[in-house]
Amino acid sequence: MDLSTIFAFFFGALLLVLRTTIAFDSCASSKSKPDNADLSLIPIYGKCSPFTPPIPKPSSSYSWANTVSNMASKDQERLTYLSSLVAQKTVIKVPIASGQHVLNIGNYVAQVKLGTPGQLMFMVLDTSNDAAWVPCSGCTGCSSSTAVFAPNTSSTYQSLLCSMPECTQASGLSCPAVGSSPCLFNQSYGGDSSFSATLSRDSLTLATDVIPNFAFGCINTISGGSVPPQGLLGLGRGAMSVMSQCGSHYSGVFSYCLPSFKSYYFSGSLRLGPVGQPKTIRTTPLLRNPHRPSLYYVNLTGIRVGRVNVPVPSELLAFDPNSGAGTIIDSGTVITRFVEPIYNAIRDEFRKQVKGPFTSLGAFDTCFSGGNEDIAPAITFHFTGMDLMLPMENSLIHSSAGSLACLAMAAAPNNVNSVLNVIANLQQQNLRILFDTANSRVGIGRELCN
Ligand SMILES: *[C@@H]1O[C@H](CO)[C@@H](O)[C@H](O)[C@H]1NC(C)=O
Ligand SMILES: *[C@@H]1O[C@H](CO)[C@@H](O)[C@H](O)[C@H]1NC(C)=O
Ligand SMILES: *[C@@H]1O[C@H](CO)[C@@H](O)[C@H](O)[C@H]1NC(C)=O
Repeated sequence: MDLSTIFAFFFGALLLVLRTTIAFDSCASSKSKPDNADLSLIPIYGKCSPFTPPIPKPSSSYSWANTVSNMASKDQERLTYLSSLVAQKTVIKVPIASGQHVLNIGNYVAQVKLGTPGQLMFMVLDTSNDAAWVPCSGCTGCSSSTAVFAPNTSSTYQSLLCSMPECTQASGLSCPAVGSSPCLFNQSYGGDSSFSATLSRDSLTLATDVIPNFAFGCINTISGGSVPPQGLLGLGRGAMSVMSQCGSHYSGVFSYCLPSFKSYYFSGSLRLGPVGQPKTIRTTPLLRNPHRPSLYYVNLTGIRVGRVNVPVPSELLAFDPNSGAGTIIDSGTVITRFVEPIYNAIRDEFRKQVKGPFTSLGAFDTCFSGGNEDIAPAITFHFTGMDLMLPMENSLIHSSAGSLACLAMAAAPNNVNSVLNVIANLQQQNLRILFDTANSRVGIGRELCN
């Protein structure tokens, strides 16, 4: 492994931890407000998906993830197996649904199977996370209303011991000198929660593909209420993510279509590999930030509201690997956030074109009478080489009674080092988003997958 790879793993590991550690102020307040209870949009910001990690600083607590990353990359057995498979011919299509009805969460879930025989799990789809983890049976603090993974009924499950070199080499993990204790690690999630898990391996079934010896965390203890009840599947660019653990099997290509967050069905899809991807799709270059190697950065160059180009100083949109500034596309954040001056400029132009008065609702500051919706302007994102005009359902969100419509975006909270714009899942409904790391491009096309 060369130095740059180690560097990439290291920062990937930092991000993994940091991203799930940062709390928004709005999390606590929106969760504790009982008067929000009649709104259909509660789960949207109730989830409080974290983003905008500050530029990472080294600390020993990240070492477990570093270890896991190294381990995954060294897994010759699995990589050899995967590369021995005949070239992919069929479309690998994993069903996706809004988590709202399935698990009462604001994120999207993929239907996968873990273990042998496969146990059905609805894991949160997260393009900015590099690891996978699931609550396991016997877990303390896990949701009692949903099934968890039962390792003892899987013939291929393996927990990894602390004494294994991969686990012990991490300075942050202290193993007893004698005996055989499991390789345990702790992680924060969603600002108000954390969990403790055992590093494990088992077969992961994605549609018809079985990925043997897939490394993931088997959760033993959860504190706090934000951990997704059936776990999380990281699709980021780091070493532990599904794409990395599958080596070249999927050629670094995947795409997804997220159905409406209101949809009841597993009608969306995660397509893995180049087979079955759209042939004609508009694309924009995929950018890589060595300090945040997990994230899918794109070059957002401007925003239009109706026919008006919103005046935004270009330096606020610019991709800057050193500061982390720029724009990412993320499936694990719920509401699109822009750095404050950009959001304010969009909001001000939007308000000019829609009849007020405007009120606030939870995370949203531009809500208006649903009767004025017809005159709401379309919002268009300009990327290098590609424009995306948001369908109206992706820029407005309604109170459950339908009396109010809100501009479904917000300013990045300024309690964190916020230089990052995040295009989140509410703005990606009924679009096919293609991530092609082999050709360094991201494609976006309209696709109804409700
Ligand atoms: C598996 O573990 C669960 C929870 O610890 C236990 O209830 C169950 O009996 C075990 N099943 C087998 C087959 O050992
Ligand atoms: C994880 O957290 C628990 C509870 O706070 C603690 O007892 C345990 O030592 C921690 N384990 C690791 C590996 O940090
Ligand atoms: C982003 O687009 C702007 C405007 O076209 C251009 O000046 C800049 O070089 C692009 N940045 C990257 C990283 O491609």
